[in-house]
Amino acid sequence: MRSIIVAGNWKMNMDPQSGARLAAGILKGLEKKPAGCVVILFPPSVTIPAVVETVEGSQIGVGGQNLYFEESGAFTGEISAGMLKGAGCGYVLVGHSERRHIFGEDSELLARKLRAALDSGLAPVLCVGELLDQRESGDAEKVVRDQLGGVLEGIDDRELTRVMIAYEPVWAIGTGKTATPEDAASMHAVIREWISSSFGDDAAEEMTIMYGGSVKPHNAATLLSEQEIDGALVGGASLEAASFLDIIRSV
Ligand code: PGA
Repeated sequence: MRSIIVAGNWKMNMDPQSGARLAAGILKGLEKKPAGCVVILFPPSVTIPAVVETVEGSQIGVGGQNLYFEESGAFTGEISAGMLKGAGCGYVLVGHSERRHIFGEDSELLARKLRAALDSGLAPVLCVGELLDQRESGDAEKVVRDQLGGVLEGIDDRELTRVMIAYEPVWAIGTGKTATPEDAASMHAVIREWISSSFGDDAAEEMTIMYGGSVKPHNAATLLSEQEIDGALVGGASLEAASFLDIIRSV
């Protein structure tokens, strides 16, 4: 049985005070009615300690949105996997499309980040997804397979059990356009096939593949009812406790 995960990617929103308030609101909702899935929050780095403190002892996990692959040293502005762990994180996003496209992160860099996350005991969520023109030209599947291969190469079977994947078509992120449940499910099947051919059927069966890209309370239930979709990575709708809790409840 693979884990079902609903995760909130707060991006560059929520300072420590507002982040703690949001986390407390989510926690309160889950105390009333526990989630039937794993819930993870990805606050900005400076807000991580406040969120960790707020959710301590609860079922809510906390992760970083990014990391650098070195352990420490002269890398001004960067944060290591060990620092995230030390701050109380259990997870980290690797290769979010905003990291790939705004900050120019390529597969070689992302592979090193994934390696650092695994070596330090964090569970990485590897994000993959195609641009609109890549989908329109029929290259979406190839792009996603290349992204998987470029980052997961060199990972062994045991390590893979700690990796989760988020399929986030770039054209659906923050745009209000959602992939249809069928389109999303069919790309999830492509991802699962790729995992199966590289790591075997059991690994593919166990792999949690979340969908991300304009997941909202009104469309979450239909997306999550797809057998292939094992949860959601939520941006905009995770910034309010009520809408995030609605999405959690639709699992
Ligand atoms: P969105 O963001 O839900 O605002 O589209 C999703 C993401 O980027 O993870």
